[in-house]
Amino acid sequence: MKIAVFSTKAYDREYFERFNNDPGLEFTFFETALHGHTANLASGFAVVCAFVNDKVDAYTIEILSRIGVKLIALRCAGFNNVDIEAAKKNNVKVVRVPAYSPEAVAEHAVALILTLNRKTHKAYNRIREGNFSLNRLIGFNLHGKTVGVIGTGKIGASFCSIIKGFGCKVLANDTFPSKDLIDLGIQYSPLDEVFEKADIISLHCPLTPETKHIIDANSLARMKDGIMIINTSRGALINTADIIQGLIDRKVGYLGIDVYEQEENLFYKDLSESIIQDDLILRLISFPNVLITAHQAYFTKEAMEQITTTTLNNISDFKEGKNLKNEVV
Ligand code: NAI
Repeated sequence: MKIAVFSTKAYDREYFERFNNDPGLEFTFFETALHGHTANLASGFAVVCAFVNDKVDAYTIEILSRIGVKLIALRCAGFNNVDIEAAKKNNVKVVRVPAYSPEAVAEHAVALILTLNRKTHKAYNRIREGNFSLNRLIGFNLHGKTVGVIGTGKIGASFCSIIKGFGCKVLANDTFPSKDLIDLGIQYSPLDEVFEKADIISLHCPLTPETKHIIDANSLARMKDGIMIINTSRGALINTADIIQGLIDRKVGYLGIDVYEQEENLFYKDLSESIIQDDLILRLISFPNVLITAHQAYFTKEAMEQITTTTLNNISDFKEGKNLKNEVV
């Protein structure tokens, strides 16, 4: 079975080649992203393998279906970039990797908090230049602070237990509270209360019509001055223009993001010699209290191994006509 892998980097290819034990799977790796203008590259392939920033909208899916693609195998958990209704209409199945090392993402969220707070990135650069001064490096104790967690699924739950270990009080919000987390001492609260009481808010819910721009001018107005906001989930959970205003007004004291609303034009690319056209990301980069990573929270050896093996199993199950346990329906 022929598989067209889109948005491939050297490390994706390395993991697929290392873990594929099925001689019946034949991979072709494309560096380009999958979208309406590149979908025809999958002509002659039964399966396309796509990633977070591929634009698998109705138009792309119609082309894929027309040229004979039967399965879209996402090598990620989130599927907000796929038009599931269009896939159903065109008889294209969609599978994903529902869980892969949620700890990888949760630990990265904590890394953003600690770096922003204790400014280790700035200390590293200073010391390399022979500057041993502590001026402006002051942080705060995490112990005793209130951390708001929006979304307590697999990643949010892992984040809650790590941050609880720092001695923080956790106020969580989720449509489906977890009994295990309540037993751990996590308190569930309405969203308004989380906004009002938290010193740090970490977003771990998926991007849906309800959660789009959950952080905007209205929610920011309810938060404490100097709030720290962490987003490792999806860029559009935050209204970028509103958070920039919040940073200018000093309402937002710290912002750590691994995801960004318009990231598909930027992330995973080396643009160091390009003129970046996105003024909002340039404004964000200009703030001393903003830390941006380029959607790397998942990027650990353990997560890459799980993503690859689950994707390979998903494709093998499809090839053998087995039940698709990771199908998105
Ligand atoms: P999950 O499905 O286990 O948990 C999501 C939780 O959010 C669920 O408990 C759900 O009830 C809750 N939720 C849904 N709508 C909500 C709402 N309106 N308000 C409050 N809670 C709500 O998903 P998981 O695995 O924990 O992943 C969370 C998100 O993390 C994914 O949707 C994805 O966007 C992002 N992610 C980011 C990665 C990165 O590398 N930065 C890697 C993997 C996932």
